[in-house]
Amino acid sequence: MSGRLVKVDRWNPDPEIMREAGGVIRRGGLVAFPTETVYGLGANALDAAAVAGIFRAKGRPSDNPLIVHVQDPTEVPAFAVLNDMALRLIDLFWPGPLTLVLPSLEIVPPVTRGGLDTVGVRMPSHPVALALIAEAGVPIAAPSANRSGRPSPTEADVVFHDLGEGVDMILDGGPTEVGVESTVLDVSGEVPVLLRPGGVGLEALNEVLGQISFPEGDMESRRSPGTRYRHYAPSVPVLLWSSGTVWPTEFTESKRLGYLGLRRPPDQVAVKVLFDSPEHYARGLFSGLRHLERSGVSAIVADLPEASGIGLALRDRLARAAGFH
Ligand code: TXA
Ligand code: MG
Repeated sequence: MSGRLVKVDRWNPDPEIMREAGGVIRRGGLVAFPTETVYGLGANALDAAAVAGIFRAKGRPSDNPLIVHVQDPTEVPAFAVLNDMALRLIDLFWPGPLTLVLPSLEIVPPVTRGGLDTVGVRMPSHPVALALIAEAGVPIAAPSANRSGRPSPTEADVVFHDLGEGVDMILDGGPTEVGVESTVLDVSGEVPVLLRPGGVGLEALNEVLGQISFPEGDMESRRSPGTRYRHYAPSVPVLLWSSGTVWPTEFTESKRLGYLGLRRPPDQVAVKVLFDSPEHYARGLFSGLRHLERSGVSAIVADLPEASGIGLALRDRLARAAGFH
């Protein structure tokens, strides 16, 4: 049943389908599934051979660790060490788009954690993700279900397009809600460190933790291996339109220009994807990039929003989509 796309009701997934999908995970297979952020490509986190299959299917560098997904916080102490700070954050933000990097126990194979002594853990809120983890009966390691370096998938069709034959089962629960990936916060040391901005805003974290910061533009020095790689990149160049600036005239010199963002671009832009809020921009970012790429534009201009709320995650993804051309 290679590359099988199966529709599931987001709120009320068919127990039989979920049982089957859980069985695939237990037997060492790969199941792609929706979370509230993006689609994940899942395998049994504690099975080194199964996890190696994820890296193969995605073409992912082996030193880039995976996030381990649980369906209840009580599952965490079996494979990672919780501290007071983590417990407080779990209480406030789980289930939801917050990944906590914690000291790992030996039971997590090195391949899952990219050889690090920590492990990223999150409890997603999507009913299909939760049902899958429950049926599998094991924690599920899952990166975003795109080919390495490509925009993350927010729809099942994109997973099929990127990874099709390499996946045993793809659960289609419709488009995802948040649209950008989880916030990754390292709480394994004395001071919490934001490794990747995402679905939970920095302001919300700072209400609990005091002042943590995120040095934008300082990507090389970041500790999260995944943030060092080429990422989110469509096959055409991405140009950034900074907030508070007028439209740079050199943009319009490109032959056929695509655009996505909140502000209105000049009329000459050939294909426009407009959003009415930063939240909708986040939800439509990755599918928007793929849509523009397919529509045959020679470059994509992306509106860089303010660095607040979900805007910080948008800026991060856009800077990386733009940074490697
Ligand atoms: O929303 C999400 O987080 C999605 C869904 C499927 O849950 N998953 C996701 O996984 O975005 P991935 O593999 O595409 O991104 C995981 C990020 C990478 O930047 C990785 O380097 C970082 O989390 N990460 C994972 N474990 C880590 C660890 N132990 N230490 C530092 N960074 C870690
Ligand atoms: Mg990813």
